[in-house]
Amino acid sequence: MSRYNRRQFLKKGAVTIVVTSTCLCGLNGCATITKIGNTPAINPDSYALTNNILTIDLSKEVNLSQVGEAVKIKHSDIPNGLIIAHVEENRFEVASLLCTHRGVEVEYDHEQTNFSCASLGGSTYEINGKNISGPATKPLKDSEAALKDGILTIKI
Ligand code: FES
Repeated sequence: MSRYNRRQFLKKGAVTIVVTSTCLCGLNGCATITKIGNTPAINPDSYALTNNILTIDLSKEVNLSQVGEAVKIKHSDIPNGLIIAHVEENRFEVASLLCTHRGVEVEYDHEQTNFSCASLGGSTYEINGKNISGPATKPLKDSEAALKDGILTIKI
């Protein structure tokens, strides 16, 4: 049986602390550090925002054309941004973009039909923004979306 002397013990402890305090998900593009998820940004030519009404011309937004896709909007007049998910044919769901735990972007998970935080904390939210799991305790803000003649209208 091997025994550590004090110096060996302290050296091994220091290595352990360095390893465990390093982000293990990879430094390049780690959402826990960058706070940015993988959802593509909306085409700036596809939308207009007037008096808290957002209109999106879906013919100009290729990243929402298929069921299962999603885009995000970051805009100075939308404090927590938005994530817009194409949930079913002719059905879109909209929620605030930033996880209520520490503000990392959420992403749309089409298999689970929910939103999940891109960070290691991984809070998940129902499609209407209610909390399912993880450290976040407050819901995402849910916004109403209506589709007519290829134009998606969202009340912010
Ligand atoms: S920031 Fe989303 S779980 Fe921590």
